[in-house]
Amino acid sequence: MANVLTELNNRIFTITINRPDKLNALNQETLTQLNKVVEDAAGNDDVRVIIITGSGEKAFVAGADINELAKTNAVSGMQFAQYGQQVFNTIENCGKPVIAAVNGFALGGGCELAMACHLRIASDNARFGQPEIKLGVIPGFGGTQRLTRLVGKGKAMEMNLLGDMVSADQAEQMGLANLVVPQGELMKTVLKVADQLAQSAPIALSMIIDSINRGLECGMSEALDYEVKAFGVCCSSEDKNEGTAAFLEKRPAKFTGQ
Ligand code: COA
Repeated sequence: MANVLTELNNRIFTITINRPDKLNALNQETLTQLNKVVEDAAGNDDVRVIIITGSGEKAFVAGADINELAKTNAVSGMQFAQYGQQVFNTIENCGKPVIAAVNGFALGGGCELAMACHLRIASDNARFGQPEIKLGVIPGFGGTQRLTRLVGKGKAMEMNLLGDMVSADQAEQMGLANLVVPQGELMKTVLKVADQLAQSAPIALSMIIDSINRGLECGMSEALDYEVKAFGVCCSSEDKNEGTAAFLEKRPAKFTGQ
């Protein structure tokens, strides 16, 4: 599992893409390993929150591996894009909050990976972009779609058509990054947010993620109906009993995920 490192601490599962000499570019092997560790984390009750970051100080992920891209044809290119989309859908729908700790270049598949996560916290040296146009291709791991949903059509068109990078501050201004912090404070900040999520009610977190994701796929009345049902699920949980009792008794809640 050398291309992907993992660590579980205090219910926070950290995944580090580990190809620093290639700026953590995603080759097939790395994607396969990433998929495996995310599936494992999704099924592990000891994991409440997932963090994804890149090894080294320069890059989160500098995209799909261009050496592999260079060898693709129509069929293998489609298969590669389909697999990448499947892995990123697994991340987006894994039922637990996933934070991208964007510690440098998040380009191409790296920007797409960050966008499949539920929150993006970036260091001030981070750069985001969809530079595929410069290679004569388009994003294949969701970049034309997730970017449009996150930042709107105008900025998504601009970033995809021109392929230029944006700074961490620009990313924050357009809603692509949730928060930007000095490079040296990135992991401390991400762990603080992760800890807050790890203390929260897991079923409610999962229902929020699901309601927002599904709501974006359908019309308003269907989306609101889904929210009603998800609300009902939360109301049947022990965590709802605990959360409301804790408020009324003026004490901190202790959520168990039941
Ligand atoms: N795929 C494969 N290898 C990559 C890579 C990628 N997406 N991005 C970087 N690398 C490799 C470089 O080839 C280089 O390897 P080498 O030392 O064996 O030559 C190494 O990582 C370091 O990259 P380098 O380009 O020397 O660093 P830099 O600081 O000069 O530039 C970037 C950094 C991110 C601007 C530049 O690497 C880049 O543009 N990468 C490609 C980004 C991209 O187009 N992504 C979308 C791919 S679909």
